[in-house]
Amino acid sequence: MSKPRILVTRRWPASVEAALSQAFDATLNEGDVALDASQLREALLSYDAVLPTVSDRLPAALFEGDAVRSKILGNFGVGFNHIDIAAAKSKGIVVTNTPGVLTDCTADIAMLLLISIARRGGEGEREVRAGAWAGWRPTHLVGTKVTGKTVGIIGFGRIGKAFAQRCHFGFGMDVVFYNRSLVDPAEAARYGARQLPTVEDVLGAADFVSLHCPGGAENRHLMNAARFATMKPGAFLINTARGDVVDEAALISALEQGTIRGAGLDVYEAEPHVPERLRALDNVVLLPHLGSATEETRTAMGMKVVDNITAFFAGREPPDRVV
Ligand code: DGY
Repeated sequence: MSKPRILVTRRWPASVEAALSQAFDATLNEGDVALDASQLREALLSYDAVLPTVSDRLPAALFEGDAVRSKILGNFGVGFNHIDIAAAKSKGIVVTNTPGVLTDCTADIAMLLLISIARRGGEGEREVRAGAWAGWRPTHLVGTKVTGKTVGIIGFGRIGKAFAQRCHFGFGMDVVFYNRSLVDPAEAARYGARQLPTVEDVLGAADFVSLHCPGGAENRHLMNAARFATMKPGAFLINTARGDVVDEAALISALEQGTIRGAGLDVYEAEPHVPERLRALDNVVLLPHLGSATEETRTAMGMKVVDNITAFFAGREPPDRVV
């Protein structure tokens, strides 16, 4: 029997590409250039499986008609808001993701952003690189202390919990969170955290607000102008979740006007586009979507995709099936 034809839309860790090439009739994206909409449509028509990443937009229009050949999308990532899940489901296409293996690394990046923005690490780094550092002085790049401050987490899933643990047990912070469903207080306490009833309660209490909820329609622009106005004066925003959770234009205004003190961002509304007004600000630390970017994690993510599509083509239930 011939091997299933699969398309890997970007370069993946070499060991994962080798595993895929061994088990499947795999087409790799040697040039590592993002595919456009017509190439993705063509892929859905020609391959048994497409293995996309967050940089591949798969809206409903790409799934239209009877000619779609793909039976499974093995997404390289835990977030899948770049895929129109309802459209895939209506075509009977299985979608899988890679939960669990990127929890710690993404929580680490949120911590990096929190400390960098509080302690003005980005500004200092830029100054040294520019050869503009004039030497130590008591008033130079003075930031804000982290220990003893309150962090507010929006979304208490795996990554929210790992971040809470770091903040409370590692950095002596008070941790409050908002979560759509009720979390057992004993479970929350294991992460040094306590649940508050509303997003507004968290925003009003926190010196640092960190987003850990999924992207997509349900949380689109959860952080908007009205909510920035309810944050504590002098508070910071951290976003390692998805760009669309934040109304970026409202964030830029809040930063420019001093409604909030700063932001640490790893994700953006229209990646890889980062608005010039945002890039012009000093009170932001901007990373290029690095949450899961460690050798260990990217390999583990890839191996999860291998497991998912292997199970699917062997007639078994994929372990990380979304629909
Ligand atoms: C994820 O896994 O969701 C990362 O953000 C990369 O897509």
